[in-house]
Order: sequence, then structure tokens, then C-alpha cells
Amino acid sequence: MSLVHGEHMELFGTGNTMRLAKRANQLQFRRIAESRERLCRVELPALLAENGGSTVPPIDLVDGWHLDRSGTLPHLDQLIKESGEIIAERGLRPKKAGEAERSFFQSIQKADDFTRYPSILNFALSSDVLGAVCRYMQTIPVLSRTFPQGVRLAESSITFDARPQDGYRSSQLYHLDHHDTPMVYVIVLLKDVTERGGPFTFLSDSVSTRAAAAMRYQTRAVDYRVPDETMYRHVARTDAQVMALPQGTVLFLDSSRCFHYGSRDAYDPRYQMMYAYTSVCRTDFSEWFTNVRPFPGTAHDSRLRRLVLDKDAAASFSP
Ligand SMILES: [Fe+2]
Repeated sequence: MSLVHGEHMELFGTGNTMRLAKRANQLQFRRIAESRERLCRVELPALLAENGGSTVPPIDLVDGWHLDRSGTLPHLDQLIKESGEIIAERGLRPKKAGEAERSFFQSIQKADDFTRYPSILNFALSSDVLGAVCRYMQTIPVLSRTFPQGVRLAESSITFDARPQDGYRSSQLYHLDHHDTPMVYVIVLLKDVTERGGPFTFLSDSVSTRAAAAMRYQTRAVDYRVPDETMYRHVARTDAQVMALPQGTVLFLDSSRCFHYGSRDAYDPRYQMMYAYTSVCRTDFSEWFTNVRPFPGTAHDSRLRRLVLDKDAAASFSP
């Protein structure tokens, strides 16, 4: 288990552990990965059309990110409405006893929400969103079933922070996700976020790459979490992009290439839907220690939708 989490990967070197995990996962999943890469290269337009087609101009990540402020992505209005019902029902309830380290953050979404609130998966699996993710990742990805969870309705609040005296820690500090690379987060602001809501904050790919090189980030014994005073020795504070933005804003981000943090001093609770897409050959060992089950699908699902919900679906769709 010690190789799963970022903090414990430092001893061997996070980069070394990621390369080792990639190779180990390729031994098991190379065939599925190649099939998905081929599908993306050869059949993506057909897969997107079968999945309902695109409704907005193509979205492309530039320098590791794209911010959609149009409010026009399909299922977005319904997602905000249905998420609002979940927040009204479960928001700001005391956390179950658990990890004090990250007690400022919890997912309030449950497994049966996928059938009760169909917009949660419909948004994540729309052709507009998946087109952007597939073109960027150059494969047909899956919604992660391990770390991070592929779908989270994330509530950030200082109210339940068990260790406020410890200062910023865990995901409140700059880091690059180590679960896969490339990987894409799609983050939907479910309510307006202000500076008092612990806004998600990130650096672009090029700025992050410069900082990572200067810090020798992901090499042996270099801290996985980076305090601001270290980061801002290498990049300007004005390089940080702060998601203190209105409800309905959607961020597409390669979280393995763009440093990010969030949930700092969230005096106003912050609510985000967070989707995590990875390839089938990850750069961590999380699937080795977790019982991985596909997300719920139906017999009417398109090929693309089934592929993203279920890692094993690729085998039956090889061109
Ligand atoms: Fe992260």
C-alpha cells in the first residue's frame, strides 16, 4: 500500500514509482490500451456521433487547460439543479470519523446517485466533454474507479477541519497528481465561488514544467507537496489562475502537468463536481489494492459511453 499515495512515493522518487507502475500496468493492460488508442485515432468522430454528437464548438485544452464560461455545455443546467438537491440534503453535515489530514474536504455523493440523478454521468459522458478529453489524451479514457474517485461532489469547508492549527496541508498545497499522465480533471462549479470559498487554483502546463524542473520535482526525496514560499521562488504569484468564478464555470485541466491546490480557508462552503479521467494503464498501483467495479451502464448506452464507464469494454469494440 505504501506505493499508492504521493507522500510515500517520495522515498523511491515519485517519477520512478510512476514509471514502474506504468510498466507493471502495461504488462497487464497493454492490449486494452492499444485498442483504445486505435479507436481514438480511427473512430473518434463516429463514436462521438453515435453518442449524440457535439452541440458546441470543439473544446481543446491549450497549455494543459481550458476554461468554459459559456454555460452552454449539455446537461449542465440539470447537473446544477440535481446537485443542488444533493447539497440541500447532505451539505454541511458532520464528516464520518475518518482522516483528519484532509477533513476540510469530502465527497457527499453516493453510489445510487447515478441512477437517481442521471445528469451526473450524462454531463461527464457527453460528446462535447468526451471529445475534448479524448483528443487531449489521445485515447478513450475511463472514469477512475480508485484514486481519485472518477466522480465526486466535493464539499470543501473549514467547518470540519480537525487540524486547522496545522496550517495548509495535503491538497491545500501545490502538487501534480501522480495517478496517471496525461490525465484530465473536469471541474464544474456547482455554486458561485469567491475568495472566501477556498477556490481551486492552478498553474499552466508551461509554468508548471518550468517550476518542476527548477525544483527537481518528482525526483528522490523531493517533497510531493510544495509550500507557496517554495513555488513562488520559481514562478510569479500572478501566474496562478484562481477559480473564484460563477456557478456553471467548467475547467478542463491536466492535473498531472499543471500544479494545483484548493480548499484553503473555505469559510463559505465550496461545491464542485470533479470528474477524473485516466488511461487504462495508470502510473500508480491503486488498482492493485482496490476492487475495481465499472460504473453503472444500460443496454442502450453508446459504445463510447460504455468504454468510459467500463475499462474492460474495449475488448469487444476493436476495429
Ligand atoms: Fe490533485
